[in-house]
Amino acid sequence: MGWNSWNYFAGKVTDKDIRDSADQIVSSGMKDAGYIYVNIDDTWEGERDAMGVLHTNSKFPDMKALADYVHSKGLKLGIYSSPGPKTCANFEGSLGHEEQDAKMYADWGIDYLKYDLCSFIPAVMQKQEPNDKAAQIRLRVAAYDKMGKALKATGRPIVYSLCQYGWDNVWEWAPGIGGNLWRTTGDIEARWQSIYDLLSQQKGLASYAGPGHWNDPDMLEVGNGKLSLAENRTHFSMWAMLAAPLLAGNDLPNMKPEIKQILTNPEVIAINQDPLGYQARHIYSKGEVEVWARDLKAGAKAIAIVNVGSDVYSTHPFHLDLAQLGLHGVQQAKDLWTGKEMDLTNNMPIELPSHDILLLRIANPK
Ligand code: GLA
Repeated sequence: MGWNSWNYFAGKVTDKDIRDSADQIVSSGMKDAGYIYVNIDDTWEGERDAMGVLHTNSKFPDMKALADYVHSKGLKLGIYSSPGPKTCANFEGSLGHEEQDAKMYADWGIDYLKYDLCSFIPAVMQKQEPNDKAAQIRLRVAAYDKMGKALKATGRPIVYSLCQYGWDNVWEWAPGIGGNLWRTTGDIEARWQSIYDLLSQQKGLASYAGPGHWNDPDMLEVGNGKLSLAENRTHFSMWAMLAAPLLAGNDLPNMKPEIKQILTNPEVIAINQDPLGYQARHIYSKGEVEVWARDLKAGAKAIAIVNVGSDVYSTHPFHLDLAQLGLHGVQQAKDLWTGKEMDLTNNMPIELPSHDILLLRIANPK
């Protein structure tokens, strides 16, 4: 759990934004809720000198001092690079400097690296193997392996985040080369359709997630763009259900109270952080309502019922089918957004506004 600069600041992020965000993570209560990583995304990079040492650009005058500051708050600092010659925003990448860069990150006190494919595709894959898709994939895996080994060799624990947009079954090979998380999709945007598309792409991936190695459906847009409160709630709930990395991406110094409430809901976060690390599975859909579930420690279960349609639900009554969830008889559940206890009965009608969610925890499923 943490925060990343890209979804709100994109290319404008500065050292001051990172410090202000770290301050806010502490003062807002987000740190106490579990948000620890403060991640600088693309556009911190300057030029390499004659020795190949990569310098920061003028937006980040002193990365070591910034790391010390973030650490002084009890938080961790993340950084970003690419296996190609350039990053996605066309700044300097790590190609040919992997060990040197990894060592520099460790010297600075970096705790997390997001490694983003981008220019590696044209500059290496397509150039070296223009007609051989399988060989291109091998080059890509080797590049991620190289940086994984370089990070390990530093001796500093650095979380390794693979960003190559979910291509070529990354979930099958990423854990083997030291990946702690890997993007399973293209870039998220702060609008419902994007969030729903990414959610849909997680179906079938549950078995690849587990402690230390996670599917990453991209960083949170909670509090960004024009998402409604229901959409923010559903987005956060479903990323929690998916055992996804919870990397907030909003403007923390100007966070509205209702957004803070969503991001710091302790019972929703507890689902995300459940020690078993089981990613939710899509159980069934009926009309425009989807039902997802995941098992939790001590035999508990979390269930998410989502109205993914644009119509208000009451026009198409939805009746919960407990048997499809492996449940029989009346279940005592807690609504994690209202805090209310409720009885779940078979076939009960559930009405949800468009894009809203009923997120339930059943302590003793029967
Ligand atoms: C890609 C990534 C984004 C972000 C940008 C930065 O698009 O998928 O998450 O890191 O690059 O340039």
